[in-house]
Amino acid sequence: MEPIKIAFFDAKPYDIQSFDTVNSAYGFSFKYFNAHLSVDTAILAKDADVVCIFVNDPLTKETIDLFKSFGVKLIALRSAGYNNVDLRAAYKNLHIMRVPAYSPFAVAEHTVALMLALNRKIHRAYNRIRDNNFTISGFIGFDMHGKTAGIIGTGKIGKVLIHILSGFGMKILAYDPFPDIEFAKANDVTYVDLQTLYRKSDVISLNCPLSKETFHMINEKAIAEMKSGVMLINTGRGHLIDTQALIEGLKNQKIDSAGLDVYEEESKYFFEDFSNQILSDDTLARLLTFNNVLITSHQGFFTKEAMKNIAETTCQNIRDFFDDKPLINEICYHCNNSVCQKKKNGKCF
Ligand code: NAI
Repeated sequence: MEPIKIAFFDAKPYDIQSFDTVNSAYGFSFKYFNAHLSVDTAILAKDADVVCIFVNDPLTKETIDLFKSFGVKLIALRSAGYNNVDLRAAYKNLHIMRVPAYSPFAVAEHTVALMLALNRKIHRAYNRIRDNNFTISGFIGFDMHGKTAGIIGTGKIGKVLIHILSGFGMKILAYDPFPDIEFAKANDVTYVDLQTLYRKSDVISLNCPLSKETFHMINEKAIAEMKSGVMLINTGRGHLIDTQALIEGLKNQKIDSAGLDVYEEESKYFFEDFSNQILSDDTLARLLTFNNVLITSHQGFFTKEAMKNIAETTCQNIRDFFDDKPLINEICYHCNNSVCQKKKNGKCF
């Protein structure tokens, strides 16, 4: 029997290494493409049974129609988030599977890395000391202990983050439309409405998915409600924040510092090397002028453990699909909070 053929978009050397390692147990035929998915590049998958994409590969109605016409049967996301997928267009056309949890620890720990670096000005200290300047003025931080963290989204990542921040002795406020009351009781977490969370938190972390409801949830109005001097961390998705409103909040010093692992227009830049080019995105360029803004290039997930889990779960998703097993990691537009309302025989359709 011919091996199952899988076309990878946006495949970087680290993806190739982890998938090639895991594939010894599966025997799939992989074709790796560096290109992002678009209407123009979709043709690369014309012989594939499965297309494997990442967070900045937009799976639109047009690319879905093209894949369907090529005979592609499954889209395997190498990510947890699926805001890049037109689920309505995919329904009854292509099955979509994802990796719901590869390492909530990776993203939660990166969130804390951003918090600590911003609070204690580690990024500035590193540069200052390389210039033989051993002064510390301007680097004063605050004790995390006793401060209030507001966590928006208490799913897998939010919960790990809460455990870590509780270890620092922070008070935890949380907002989630699907609160986990048992978890809150056991971990001394207080669920509050968003306004209260904005008003009372010293540090706010976004750990919810991007959706119609959460698009630009951090806007001018939300920032106005926040404590003066708040630290804002976004490891969720770029469009959770209205970047222009963030810039205004930084300029008028309502926001003391911001840690961003994601950015609204990241698909143009993140994961690529532009070091020999001029940055044409004025908004990103403005963000980079603030020394109290720390930007990382969507690397929250990037640990050895997470990469191994992504490759293993993706391969197992594909194997389950072709073995006609229940698709536990399938998503469709009926899936609310990852539980499909319409699943029959373990499949969304
Ligand atoms: P999860 O599905 O376990 O948890 C998400 C939580 O957000 C759920 O409890 C859900 O009820 C809640 N939620 C839904 N709508 C909300 C709203 N309007 N306001 C507040 N909370 C809301 O997902 P997980 O694994 O915790 O990931 C969270 C997000 O982190 C993902 O959706 C993804 O966008 C992002 N992510 C970022 C990564 C990175 O490398 N920076 C890697 C992995 C995920």
